[in-house]
Amino acid sequence: MKLIHLIEQLPKSELHLHIEGTLEPELMWALAEKHKVSLPYESVEAIKEAYQFDSLQSFLDLYYQGADVLRDEDDFYQLMRQYLQHCKADNIVHTEIMFDPQTHTARGVGFDIFMPGFQRAIEEARREWGISVYLIMSFLRHLSEPEAIETLNQARAYYPLITAVGLDSSEKGNPPEKFIKVFAAARALGFKCVAHAGEEGPADYIWQALDLLKIDRLDHGVRASDDQALMARLRDENMALTVCPQSNIKLCVFDNMQHHNILQLLEDGLCVTVNSDDPSYFGGYLNDNYRALMTHLGMDESALVQLVKNSFMGSFLPAEEKNKWL
Ligand code: HPA
Ligand code: ZN
Repeated sequence: MKLIHLIEQLPKSELHLHIEGTLEPELMWALAEKHKVSLPYESVEAIKEAYQFDSLQSFLDLYYQGADVLRDEDDFYQLMRQYLQHCKADNIVHTEIMFDPQTHTARGVGFDIFMPGFQRAIEEARREWGISVYLIMSFLRHLSEPEAIETLNQARAYYPLITAVGLDSSEKGNPPEKFIKVFAAARALGFKCVAHAGEEGPADYIWQALDLLKIDRLDHGVRASDDQALMARLRDENMALTVCPQSNIKLCVFDNMQHHNILQLLEDGLCVTVNSDDPSYFGGYLNDNYRALMTHLGMDESALVQLVKNSFMGSFLPAEEKNKWL
């Protein structure tokens, strides 16, 4: 089978996806009209044209602004439903989705609004398409640790729906060590732990995420290649990395796809996975990311198969579920 068809037809798992980053300009526009929110854009086309970034922060500014149109339960349902439709189209059979509660609670939109909306769409996708979904509650690292702890407490009624906690937003200047207590508390409650580290920030932040937050999986982590001792540690622990190729190009982590290190990390023996991060903002869902690796990095069939296997091995599925896909 041709590689392009194999990309489409292999059942896959996605492990690094921010639900707020799936808000398509068309839905943003429709929800702004519905809620009479004024957007700083004149048209859907103008929204699309604004998506030119030179750093993580330049993206985050638009991402938080866009999320302001999400106001009621049905908005969160539609958001989740649209992403899960993309999962079906891309043959994603399992997905572990991050959401940013503080982006919503700061605007007076609470857990009782967004969680039931998410839950309704997730149950439908499970029933209609057999897709399995885990949720990862991410703390915003530009805010304080006490605010993250408050968020963990606010989520209490929804703990059964949440598999893991994560850490995202502006990396530089907000090291993992700022969040030791909240991650320890989450771990004691039985949550798995993930954190963004080594996207824009240095390899030292990856060491901190491993040693201080005791993460079970590393989000991004591409800067690990700066530090050979760290590479050995990640290899020895079989730590999964959720790499997001198109995101990294859009946010100028690498200057072009030909210079991306994902296949080198794979060759070096790391458990690397492919993910879309914020597909609406970065111009591609999961299969687009795999296709970019084929087109620009010469990914061959054996690399594709290993990346897809890693997407299940690095997941939080129980062993017997994982093994069904390996
Ligand atoms: N990095 C950090 N925070 C984020 C990202 C990202 O790629 N996407 C959404 N929040
Ligand atoms: Zn991310």
